[in-house]
Amino acid sequence: MARVLLLVPTRTYRTADFMSAARSLGIEVAIGSEQRSALAGLMRDRMLGVTFEHVDRAVAAIARFAARHPLDAIVAVDDTGTVVAAAASAALGLAGNSVEPVRASRDKGRARERFAAAGLLTPRFQIFGSDADPASVAAAVRYPCVVKPVDLSGSRGVIRADDADSCVAAFTRVGALVRSPDVCRPGSAPQSILVEDFIPGAEFALEGLLRGGVLETLAIFDKPDPLNGPFFEETIYVTPSRQPDAVQAEMADTVQRATRALGLTEGPVHAEVRRNEAGTFMLEVAARSIGGLCARTLRFGMGVSLEELILRHAVGLPIQSLRREDRAAGVLMLPIPRPGVLRQVRGQEEARQVPGIEGVVLTVPAGERLVPLPEGDRYLGFVFARGPSAADVERALRTAQQHLVVETA
Ligand SMILES: Nc1ncnc2c1ncn2[C@@H]1O[C@H](COP(=O)(O)OP(=O)(O)O)[C@@H](O)[C@H]1O
Ligand SMILES: [Mg+2]
Repeated sequence: MARVLLLVPTRTYRTADFMSAARSLGIEVAIGSEQRSALAGLMRDRMLGVTFEHVDRAVAAIARFAARHPLDAIVAVDDTGTVVAAAASAALGLAGNSVEPVRASRDKGRARERFAAAGLLTPRFQIFGSDADPASVAAAVRYPCVVKPVDLSGSRGVIRADDADSCVAAFTRVGALVRSPDVCRPGSAPQSILVEDFIPGAEFALEGLLRGGVLETLAIFDKPDPLNGPFFEETIYVTPSRQPDAVQAEMADTVQRATRALGLTEGPVHAEVRRNEAGTFMLEVAARSIGGLCARTLRFGMGVSLEELILRHAVGLPIQSLRREDRAAGVLMLPIPRPGVLRQVRGQEEARQVPGIEGVVLTVPAGERLVPLPEGDRYLGFVFARGPSAADVERALRTAQQHLVVETA
């Protein structure tokens, strides 16, 4: 029986989906997690405590674990575990990305340099220390711009600024975020802040699988709600894209070039591009699959999940089909509308009744304190839809959204 070590962040929704994919494949799963307690009772000797920030220590711990429980692959469930997964795979002689490309994918500045050097369209940027004087930053950049930490995800700390005043405010706010104990561990330096040109246009996400450096496009998602800031909460993703085939091919080509520019070669990638009259701009490509519960929109061949594809690829099991099902599918991420304590989300039953809606999953329990973007790091929940066409799916998601009312205290 193959054994996979899953690297799981403290807060993830995806462990269950990976576990059930593993079960259906007959793969044994061990869990590497920063919070040992969460699953310890359940997993006992298949549970390993690792701190993703201390790569060397994490690799040593994984090597000790692997000596007792040999591993066939190491899979990171989200961004936080990707560097450790690559480093430990290299140490144990397992297939996977090299460490340096993964590090570059996690550093928005380094990734920008690589993209630009490879001739890709990418925003012009500057990097500042989090303690830089916001007024000097505002004087040094051009507008409109986007201010963001170099290594966060989920649009956390990403703020658009149209002039010097709003840039000072944005930089101050992002500085406070990257220095906060929530983001900056004791003993570590706060991460740097990138300020880059705002790229107008429509945005798309590409979900892919790299095999031997070759990108297989699993899905291209349209993001039909305009993302113009000042904050960039995601809402609707719908696939297949309604863009012409030639445009989709160009997006896939751009992402393939971006993975080469970084040096990523194996496993899932999640990429974002923006398109306007100037062409297709590379925003970012991460060495992981799509976040939250959004992977539930994807099914391949005869109903295979994305998690199953990832595990099959990781342990070298055959993959029958990378072709997504014929139906259109989409997800609505429910953003946190305002700070407060969640009382309830009304209208869930009505939302579930909307034709095409396949699921409404709330991921924050009542009573929790809500922090909206740009400081917050999660969504309230996810609404899933399927239908004959992308337009049907988008309509269903929008109708469902109208039923959902978030009550806070
Ligand atoms: N330079 C930019 N121009 C336009 N929009 C941007 C730019 N940078 C970020 N955004 C918007 O903010 C979102 C999040 O930024 P991104 O760099 O992808 O960080 P994250 O890792 O948090 O996803 C993007 O999906 C996009 O909508
Ligand atoms: Mg992104």
